[in-house]
Amino acid sequence: MNRIGSTLRVSLVALASGLAPAACQGGVDVDTAEELGSSERALLLLGHQHDQRDKDRDKPCKPEKPGKGNKPGKGKPPCAEPVTEPAAFTPQTAAARSKRHAGVAVQASLLASDAAYAQFVADHFGQVTPENEMKWGPLQPDRPHRWSFGPADSIVDFAQAHELPVRGHTLIWHSQLPAFISDDLSDLRLRLYAEEHVVRTVNHFRKDVYGWDVVNEAIADDGSLRVSPFSEAFGEHYIAHAFRLAHLIDRDAKLYYNDYGIEGFGPKSDAVYGLMERLLDRRVPVDGVGFQGHFDARFMPSLDELVSNFQRFADLGLKVNVSELDVRVARIGGSKARRLAVQKQLYQRVAAACVQVEACEGITTWGFTDAHSWVDSTFGADDPLLLDESYQKKPAYFGYVDGWLGVPLDDPSLEPNLIGNSSLEAGLDGWSVMGAGQLSSETELAHTGLRSLRAGGRAASWQGPRHDVTALVSAGRTYDASLAVRLDGAASATANLTAHISCAGADAVFQQVASGAVSDAAFTVLAGELTLPDCDVQSVALYAEGPAAGVDLLVDDLGLREQPLPNLIGNPDFESGIGGWFGWGPSTLSLSSDSHSGAGAVVATGRSDSWNGVATDVTAGVAATASYRASAWMKVSGAAADSVVLTAAVGCAGAATQFVRVGAATSAGEWVEVSGTLAVPNCVVQSVVLYGEGPAAGVDLYLDDVSLSLLDAGQGPNVVANSGFESGVDGWFGFGAVAAEATSARAHGGDRSARIGGRTASWQGLATSLVGQLTPGASYALSAWAQVGDGSSPLNMTLQSACDGGAESYTFVAGTTANAATWTELQGTLVAPSCNLTTANLYIEGAPAGVDIYLDDVVLRPTP
Ligand code: XIL
Repeated sequence: MNRIGSTLRVSLVALASGLAPAACQGGVDVDTAEELGSSERALLLLGHQHDQRDKDRDKPCKPEKPGKGNKPGKGKPPCAEPVTEPAAFTPQTAAARSKRHAGVAVQASLLASDAAYAQFVADHFGQVTPENEMKWGPLQPDRPHRWSFGPADSIVDFAQAHELPVRGHTLIWHSQLPAFISDDLSDLRLRLYAEEHVVRTVNHFRKDVYGWDVVNEAIADDGSLRVSPFSEAFGEHYIAHAFRLAHLIDRDAKLYYNDYGIEGFGPKSDAVYGLMERLLDRRVPVDGVGFQGHFDARFMPSLDELVSNFQRFADLGLKVNVSELDVRVARIGGSKARRLAVQKQLYQRVAAACVQVEACEGITTWGFTDAHSWVDSTFGADDPLLLDESYQKKPAYFGYVDGWLGVPLDDPSLEPNLIGNSSLEAGLDGWSVMGAGQLSSETELAHTGLRSLRAGGRAASWQGPRHDVTALVSAGRTYDASLAVRLDGAASATANLTAHISCAGADAVFQQVASGAVSDAAFTVLAGELTLPDCDVQSVALYAEGPAAGVDLLVDDLGLREQPLPNLIGNPDFESGIGGWFGWGPSTLSLSSDSHSGAGAVVATGRSDSWNGVATDVTAGVAATASYRASAWMKVSGAAADSVVLTAAVGCAGAATQFVRVGAATSAGEWVEVSGTLAVPNCVVQSVVLYGEGPAAGVDLYLDDVSLSLLDAGQGPNVVANSGFESGVDGWFGFGAVAAEATSARAHGGDRSARIGGRTASWQGLATSLVGQLTPGASYALSAWAQVGDGSSPLNMTLQSACDGGAESYTFVAGTTANAATWTELQGTLVAPSCNLTTANLYIEGAPAGVDIYLDDVVLRPTP
């Protein structure tokens, strides 16, 4: 018998004889020895213990909630497809159309304390996963053999009350472990604890969960075996052992391997694939793979890549599912409306991928509201889920439902559609009527998907269905708008897509966006441009109108897309040579007649490394903190398939060059578009070079049709010139008699800060003049970082100002108590006096005489 097998036998015997049970300490917690009698212990080992939850196991499957209670492998008949379908789909009713689940991670405390939270889960999802409550640490919070099942049981109770299957998460994971799983445990003790944990946990929830994430995140990002207490002690063997043990205790449970960063191709996904092959070869009882799906929208696999990757696991005979979906969007560019529109596309893509893979069982989102997501505390503030913080449905919600229903994906070569509820599959949110009439979900006729919107009871030709777009648009911009329209009650008529626009201090105006003949035989797409005036926009709505009173208007697929701003690339298409472009690293550029469009493209040959390629300087066109959409068409020759990458090298004063990956794709000799966002950092920008790179050395790289256009102007420039003191204190002067210098002894950002010494009064400090930098009457947000030499002291930033050479006045801008050990931020608002400023000195002061002040990263930007 191998090492694992013999130890398994030994330790199960130890467990069955009640190894080192601790005394029960009351409360809801239970001790192993107390809950299991000796005969039960024996039964447990055979996987036959029964408990009070037996009765719940055989609940019938509810036809209107397909997928629920439908636990393959637990001997239940599959659920029938729903007889009547809802007017408005939810994620679960949409997923159920293809017999899949739309599950959600839940927290016991929120189910108990927030009725709206609990109700939303019950009404919209078809399965739950405890977000934390079934993990090892939460189950055994204080010491070995002492169990705290209360919170997890309460989730099970909620799920059973609503007939929602529960996915067990997770048995063996390197994270959220009990404190007693420490490095100094012997291998044997670690094994005993782990086995007790698996046996006890699987047994306790045996009637409650349909399956388990048995092993979570065992592979590191580079594809090697992740270093964890388990791999350190037992190598890869622990994985097979955990599956076998879980199977021994609950023969009916579906057993999954679960991991993140394996949704597309790559070394980690390959490594998990290899692991699955090895487990299956050894007849380890693994049923499927959970792809966590914690995505950053910037690095999201294409639909084809998701489908092919899921399919290769399915081809091993495994089930697949997306187990923890959320999509971070904070780091993609443009307006918030655009970010949420991109997020909608990605949710739709993941659901569409699942539907395309027969072995895909469903998707679980890791929560549902941005009010409660692990993302904010792990990755920084973001909006990763389906509902906003006030539980309002976001575009992502509608995209997710669309994906389940097979609504066509948004065209990736266009700017994203800003309208959330465009296809009207999930209800009428966002829609109202212009004038009189009633709206209803049209369940018989649709342009795409299964539903459209019917506006009936129209009392005049100018009335019709209306969608407010105020929050989606900005003054002065132009948008492409479109709407599919069909009639009921007249054979044909002219219909219009009209915008109703109000600017502050002016009468509302109507702008005809599109107009055309429509009929009762089919949907007709009306498309045109919406251009907003350069005014203080109060409200904008789009609506359909035109046909006579009494004729119903059916509408579907409202589109609203930003038109890109001018291209900042000087020579974007190589139609008259390769001027403005240069080789990036060793590489020779020449004009190629093999082009993506027109007659010319550029080709880089003689590349000696994957980062070599073709570059252009865009420094003059871009600004700090602004974001840009960048796109290029690329292809390779001389390789079967290789990656093509669009990158920006950004040089900031006082910092090493940053390489910002804008986008990447794979070319197998064909032209592919690579696009993404370039967010220029908050720094003094010295150079920005955009370049194509990626394929292996020796592979020729072609580039054509490059564009770079502004998405979002960012926060405006920092009006403080030398803000980081990286090369001295130029632009600053002593306020009073002080000695100031740049020092590397302490630094907040970069390598240096300003040290202000020799102070003989508390008002003395370091100042910079903002004369000529401030707009009279405008407000500016100040952020500056400070320390003091010793102890702790108050510090202020103050503005000394004078109008037209008159008397000086002093205004407090920001204050804090700073110390000598950490950097403290001073934050405040500076309002520039509404006059001709002849003095405007911003200075730091306040610490007692003799105390040194350190100052760094002084940023003063106009507030929007
Ligand atoms: C996260 C939870 O959401 C957080 O509340 C907790 O603090 C940490 O764990 N991969 C997993 C999940 O498998 O269990 C993790 O959940 C997120 C990453």
